[in-house]
Amino acid sequence: MITTQQYQEDYHRSIDDPEGFWGEQAKKFITWFSPWEKVLSGGFDQLDVRWFQGGKLNAAYNCLDRHLEIHPEQAAIIWEGDDPNESKILTYQALYDQVCRFSNVLKQYDVKKGDRVCIYLPMIPEAAIAMLACARIGAIHSVVFGGFSAEALKSRILDADCQIVITANEGIRGHKIVPLKQQVDIALQECPRVRTVIVVKRTANSVPWNQERDVWYHEAMSKAHPHCPAEVMDADDPLFILYTSGSTGKPKGILHSTGGYLVYVAMTHQLVFDYRPGEVYWCSADVGWVTGHSYSIYGPLLNGATTLLFEGVPHYPTPSRYWDVIDKHKVNIFYTAPTAIRALRREGDHWVTRTSRQSLRILGSVGEPINPEAWEWYYHIVAEKRCPIVDTWWQTETGGIMISPLPGTTPLKPDSATWPFFGIVPMIVDDQGNPVPDGKMGNLIIKKPWPGMMQTVYRDRDRFVNTYFKPFPGCYTTGDQAHCDVEGYYWIAGRSDDVIKVSGHRIGTQEVESALIQHQGVSEAAVVAMPDPIKGQSIYAFVTLKTGIQPSDQLKKECVQAVRETIGPIATPEHIQWTEGLPKTRSGKIMRRLLRKIANNDVSDLGDLTTLADPSVVDALIKERRNVK
Ligand code: WTA
Repeated sequence: MITTQQYQEDYHRSIDDPEGFWGEQAKKFITWFSPWEKVLSGGFDQLDVRWFQGGKLNAAYNCLDRHLEIHPEQAAIIWEGDDPNESKILTYQALYDQVCRFSNVLKQYDVKKGDRVCIYLPMIPEAAIAMLACARIGAIHSVVFGGFSAEALKSRILDADCQIVITANEGIRGHKIVPLKQQVDIALQECPRVRTVIVVKRTANSVPWNQERDVWYHEAMSKAHPHCPAEVMDADDPLFILYTSGSTGKPKGILHSTGGYLVYVAMTHQLVFDYRPGEVYWCSADVGWVTGHSYSIYGPLLNGATTLLFEGVPHYPTPSRYWDVIDKHKVNIFYTAPTAIRALRREGDHWVTRTSRQSLRILGSVGEPINPEAWEWYYHIVAEKRCPIVDTWWQTETGGIMISPLPGTTPLKPDSATWPFFGIVPMIVDDQGNPVPDGKMGNLIIKKPWPGMMQTVYRDRDRFVNTYFKPFPGCYTTGDQAHCDVEGYYWIAGRSDDVIKVSGHRIGTQEVESALIQHQGVSEAAVVAMPDPIKGQSIYAFVTLKTGIQPSDQLKKECVQAVRETIGPIATPEHIQWTEGLPKTRSGKIMRRLLRKIANNDVSDLGDLTTLADPSVVDALIKERRNVK
C-alpha cells in the first residue's frame, strides 16, 4: 500500500519517464527468458506501438513454473461448483501438471505455435488449463463465452480460423443444463476446417459423437506426457483473441500481446487489489469475458495468488450464495459486477447479514457504472464499512484496469472510478477533440500508449485504426462518455456509441438488428438502450413488419427467438414495439436519438426534427409506445 503522495509522485514519473517506469515494473512482475532491447517504441501517431521489443518470455511459465520453487502446494485455483457441495482445489503443482499434460494433448492434435484454439467451456478448472496450455505452446486462444449461441460461436471460429475447439459435453449453471457440445456440433456444420473437438465430461449425460473428430478430454489427458517445455515467445507475439461488440458490424477480434499485457495485468492486479501472499482472491466474471481473462486467470496467477473460479450463479441455491462462498473459502478480495450487486440488493439485506464475511478486506466493481445506491449497499451492508471499494473502469481493448482507486491510497467518492492508473493519461474532449472544462461531460480518450493495450483487431487493421484512432487522431477513443471533477476524479457515464451494456455484457445494437431481420416477417429493425434497475440497461427494439404481416404475440416470441439463436440469451430484447415506420433523415439515416427518447417515454423535448424525411412517423411512434409494457 502506498500513500496518496507516493501515488502522485509515481504517477508523474510513469508519464514523464515511461521507459524507466515500465522497465522497472516489467522486471519486478515478470520473469523474462531474455531481456528486451527497448521498453517502448513507436506511438499513437504512426500506430506502431511496441512494448518490450525483443524480450522473450512465456505466459504459462510466468503463471506456473516460477511459483513451483516457492509454493508448489499453495492453492492456485479453488473451484466452487454450481452445487454447493462440490468444490475442489488445484495446487500450483497440480495445475502445472495438468497444463503440461494438456499442452502435450494439443501438440498431439497438431496445434502449433501461432495457431488459434477456440475454447467454449463453462467455468471449470479445465478452462484455465486450456488457456494456459495454449499459452505454454504459443498457440493463441480465443475463448467464446458459453452463453453464446451456435451461430455466434461459428462466426468467431471462422473469423479466427480455429481448427480445434475445446468444449464440454454440457455445462451446469443455477441447476440448469447448458448444452455446449450440441451448440458446437451445430456451429461446426459450417466450419469445415475444424478437425478436432476435445470434450470435457462435465455431466454424466451422453452426447452425439463424431468418431473422426471428437476426443474425450479425460482419455487424452490420461495418456499424455506430464512434461512440456514452455515455448519461448516474443514480447509482441499474440497471447489471445477475444471477440467483443462494437457499434458497427460484426464482433471484433481484439488481439492482445504477451509481454505488455502480462506486465500490465500483473501490476494492476497487485496494486488495485493490494494482493497479499496467502490471500484468497475471487473475481466472479466468466472466463468468456476480458475480466475473466485478466483478473480470474492471468493477473492472479502471475502474482502467485489463489484464485477462486465459480461455476454457478448468484441466486442459486439462494441469494446468499456469493456470501456463503466467501465464508466457505475465506475470500479476502471479491470483484464482481454492479448488475449482480443490484440484483442481490433487491432480495433483501437478510441474505447478506446471515453470513459472516469477516474474511473480506477489499471489494471491487467492474463492467458498468455502479450507481450510488448500489455502491452504498455494497459498502454498508456487504462490507460493513470495513473494506474499500475499488470501482475499476476499463475495456476488453485496454487489457487491464485503467482508472481505479488504489485501496488505502485513493480517497474514495462513491460512484467514481477515481484516478488513472500509472502510465494512463485520460482526457475528456468535445466532439471536435477540444478539452472540456472540469465537470463537463465529454468523450473519454487516452493520450498515451500503455502496455496492456490491444495490438490490433485480428486480421483487420483498418478497423482497428478507424474505430479507435480516427475519431480523435493521435489518441485512443474509448467510446465512453465521462467527466472529470476539479479534484481529478473521473466519473464514467456510459457509452457514447451504439453499444449497450446489458448486465455488464457488451452488445452492439447493429448485431441485434441484424438478428431481428433474419426473421422472414421483419422488414426493418432499430434497437436502442433503455435504463433497467437491475441490468443497468435493457434492449428495446422497434420493428417494422413486411407488408401483409400482422403483429402478434407469437411473432414477438419468434423475433426474440431469432435474437437468442443468432447471438445468445444475453441479447434478448426486453421490449419489442411494432411500428409502421422508423424516423429517418432525408439521407436515410435512422435517428436513434429520437428512438431512445421514445423508448424511454421522454418525449417532452424531442429537439430538432426538421431533418426528418417524414415527421409524421414520430407521432405514430409515440402512440404505439403506449401499447408496449
Ligand atoms: C463499461 C469490461 C463504468 C464502459 C471490463 C466500457 C464501466 C465498457 C466500468 C467495456 C466502470 C467498464 N464504470 N463503466 N467501472 N467498467 N465499464 O469491454 O462503458 O466488456 O467502455 O470490458 O464497460 O466493456 P468490456
